[in-house]
Amino acid sequence: PLIKDLFGLTDLENHLATHLRLKRVIVVPGDSDRSDWVKKEMGRAVARLLKAISRSNQVVAVAGGTTLAAVAEMMTASSSLKTTTFVPARGGLGEVVELEANTIASLMATKAGGNYRLLHVPDQLSDAARETLMKEPRIQEMMELVRSACIVVHGIGDAKAMAERRKSSPELLAHLEQEGAVGEAFGYYFARDGRIVHYGRSIGLTLEDLARAHNVIAVAGGSGKAESIAAVCPVVGGGTLITDESAARAILSDV
Ligand code: BG6
Repeated sequence: PLIKDLFGLTDLENHLATHLRLKRVIVVPGDSDRSDWVKKEMGRAVARLLKAISRSNQVVAVAGGTTLAAVAEMMTASSSLKTTTFVPARGGLGEVVELEANTIASLMATKAGGNYRLLHVPDQLSDAARETLMKEPRIQEMMELVRSACIVVHGIGDAKAMAERRKSSPELLAHLEQEGAVGEAFGYYFARDGRIVHYGRSIGLTLEDLARAHNVIAVAGGSGKAESIAAVCPVVGGGTLITDESAARAILSDV
């Protein structure tokens, strides 16, 4: 805590929590846009928090992305996580395998010494195919498990960067730009005022499901994501944000 106060990080955390209407904000020093090491420090902070709030036989749902991959990398075995089941928060959302929520869930479980269950659903499903799939007993059973998660850990993306990473159509890219999309989480794209401007079809947790989870932990940093974080956090709301100093200062300098 002493080091944090020297950097003024505790103040930053408090201001940001109020501004973003969150229960808790943890700020690590540095800028993860510039250094991968800072991303890992955010990962370490998530790992520490997870251990502290874990209960036996819980389900933890995790999203995909490079930040969540850093979280997985920093997990260590702990007795409190031995009976935890890690699951992906959503089916495929167009990520490469290394960054898919399934991969992150299995990696986290292996590192933490817990269990995992995976959700094998292709992305870019038509409505008809998705509805058929949702009737499959195994998928239904898995979805119940995912919805029972008491902890959800997710990343926040820059809207344009995520749409491009997912190889979205030129029409969607144009729509997002026109509507002023700045942030993305769980396949939802948000404008600066928190309005949802697009929702990528997939199977998994919805915003309504998130409202039921006890602990929603967002992890995202880098000054480049300041607008994205500021748009997404108040909507997903009420939970914890783990970020870095550079994003935190950029968000508050915009106020
Ligand atoms: C994706 C999630 O896998 O990662 C998105 O589906 C999230 O919801 C994104 O915004 C964040 O990625 P990164 O690499 O910026 O941590």
